[in-house]
Amino acid sequence: MTNIERGKYIDFEGPGGAGKSTQIFKASEILTENGFDVITTREPGGTDSAESIRRLLFELKSGELIDAGGQMALFFAARRLLRDELIAPNLDKGVSVLTDRSYPSTGAYQGGGEGGDDSLILQMADVTMGECKPDAVLLFDIEPEVAMARNNPEDDPYDKKGIDYFARVITAYRDMAENNWGGLKWYKIDGNPGIGEVSEQVTEVLSEIFQKDLKVYGEQY
Ligand SMILES: Nc1ncnc2c1ncn2[C@@H]1O[C@H](COP(=O)(O)OP(=O)(O)OP(=O)(O)O)[C@@H](O)[C@H]1O
Ligand SMILES: [Mg+2]
Repeated sequence: MTNIERGKYIDFEGPGGAGKSTQIFKASEILTENGFDVITTREPGGTDSAESIRRLLFELKSGELIDAGGQMALFFAARRLLRDELIAPNLDKGVSVLTDRSYPSTGAYQGGGEGGDDSLILQMADVTMGECKPDAVLLFDIEPEVAMARNNPEDDPYDKKGIDYFARVITAYRDMAENNWGGLKWYKIDGNPGIGEVSEQVTEVLSEIFQKDLKVYGEQY
């Protein structure tokens, strides 16, 4: 077998409305234009099996029928399916995976937001993910008021929470980035400015991660 360089696993994190989905789309475009093989996915979900757990989780959370520990169990169950069905096979093939959330979200939301046991979350990450952990975490750091103003709750019960919950999640994220939570490599991106300015920061960080001066083609915001 030829020696294929393993793909990179990059996690986009931040509260609802921080700009993750907007920036993951742009990042995937830029990396593809620069010759990298990339796919994008999201959590919870990303495969049919894991999306069914997403629906269950959101239904239980909306009805306030599940506590932090129960949510942790379901988030990690969904994550295990995603790892086995999508993430690991692609990384093995040399394809990089950009994900809209991974287990740092569990740390920020169920840990920071809801008082779940942080060391248990990290143990669950070890059990569920094994060696398949993000190579980098990009935190879209944003003020709670700005995130809430941009946020479109749709079917997501976590996005329907009040400013106090948002603030707890954001504080947890900042702390996690500061301490390279989970032994992961964190990069803080200022999510407050306009889409173009945020994208420039993302491109700079990705240039470092992929060790290539990424060129930006096409129309900019
Ligand atoms: N830098 C920005 N400046 C202004 N508006 C933005 C910026 N980034 C994203 N938006 C807009 O804010 C809204 C939320 O952005 P986006 O969906 O990317 O956030 P998200 O982090 O994916 O949120 P969620 O976790 O709820 O999915 C969208 O309408 C998007 O167009
Ligand atoms: Mg999104």
